[in-house]
Amino acid sequence: MTSRISGFYKKSPKERLDIISKHLNLSNEEERLLLGEVGYSVNQANQMVENVIGVLPVPLGVAVNFKVNEKEVFIPMATEEASVIAAASHAAKFCFDGFFTSYSGSMMRAQIQAIEVTDPYGALSRIYENKALILEQCNEQDPTLVSLGGGAKDLDVHVIEGATEKMVVTHLIVDTKDAMGANAVNSMAEAVAPLIEDITGGKVVLRILSNLADQRIVRARGVFENPFSGDKEAMNKFIRAYELAQADPYRAATHNKGIMNGISAVVLATGNDTRAVEAGAHAYASITGRYKSLTHWEVNEDNSITGTIALPMPVGLVGGATQSNPVAKLATKILDVETAEELAGIVASTGLAQNFAGLKALAGEGIQKGHMKLHARNMAMMAGAEDDEMDNVVELANRRGEFSYDKIKQIVLSLQKDKGRT
Ligand code: MEV
Repeated sequence: MTSRISGFYKKSPKERLDIISKHLNLSNEEERLLLGEVGYSVNQANQMVENVIGVLPVPLGVAVNFKVNEKEVFIPMATEEASVIAAASHAAKFCFDGFFTSYSGSMMRAQIQAIEVTDPYGALSRIYENKALILEQCNEQDPTLVSLGGGAKDLDVHVIEGATEKMVVTHLIVDTKDAMGANAVNSMAEAVAPLIEDITGGKVVLRILSNLADQRIVRARGVFENPFSGDKEAMNKFIRAYELAQADPYRAATHNKGIMNGISAVVLATGNDTRAVEAGAHAYASITGRYKSLTHWEVNEDNSITGTIALPMPVGLVGGATQSNPVAKLATKILDVETAEELAGIVASTGLAQNFAGLKALAGEGIQKGHMKLHARNMAMMAGAEDDEMDNVVELANRRGEFSYDKIKQIVLSLQKDKGRT
């Protein structure tokens, strides 16, 4: 099987689904779920959140041309933004050998904040002295996780200088294995809070995970082969564009937003917590005290460029919407991953590819031309174009180079007039 499929974007949704379906042996029911013919009902949604009145569908596409750790993958991406999936697929084409990833492990942190401690440094020491007891109490909360080899493994205690006083903040370091793990670590933090009060003599306030999951770092690396066909000037502009993100937080915010276009789309498609990943990514981007690019780009002698990315990746395959949302479950099936580590590597590779595509376009002809072409479809739909008119409207808009809503509406109306639809 190869995920390198030329002209994938030219096919109809059904033709694309047929390719994926054949590859994964999807059932009729699964196909209908993806096509939106059956699906995620209000009743299911009502089990997940409060005050439900409906569901909001988001387009689900598949990025092609990706190979991650020698394995060909189709990457499901849920996003409302035009160009994102096309850009990731385009970028991955340059990465002939594919992406290579590593994972520091699935360790989450939970913080327990103790205030009004008379001897903060003495308390810090006493907490470490009681490490075995604290970890034991934590692990009593989640025998299943412990049986899978996970659970609370370590402590990391800080004295934090607050505006009012020095606080003692105990971090529980918990291996959450293939779960994102928020519930597991929060339950542990709440359970051991009374013990922390006994040990410190203070009062516990917060008992909650930290989204700066710096012991759950995923790294991805890809070598993009001769992306500028030997054009040194274009290559130089690409690198200069990256250098601005390294040096200037205003640019870094947009640069990293582009990376998150890819990352959040895969995280959302698999039913994971986009906000947790986003919060962790941006906090990690400022870990040096200055907000910087999540990626690095280096030019090689043979005109290839090596891209690397590192960020926290608290994603899982069990728990929450990863299981309860049937489409998210199918997205995981399409990815064909068995561990959170594999998923994390694919997510990071998508972010790296996305950044490559963004920089290449921005440092070249700019993004608006390509973007507006894709966006034309969106506007044609808003202007009331029927399915069978869509290609004509987009083609005419492209030919005329006219992409404003008003111009597209005019095209739609004139086509419909010709057909006697208005
Ligand atoms: C748009 O959603 C993302 C970009 O702005 C990213 C970037 O500037 O690198 C194109």
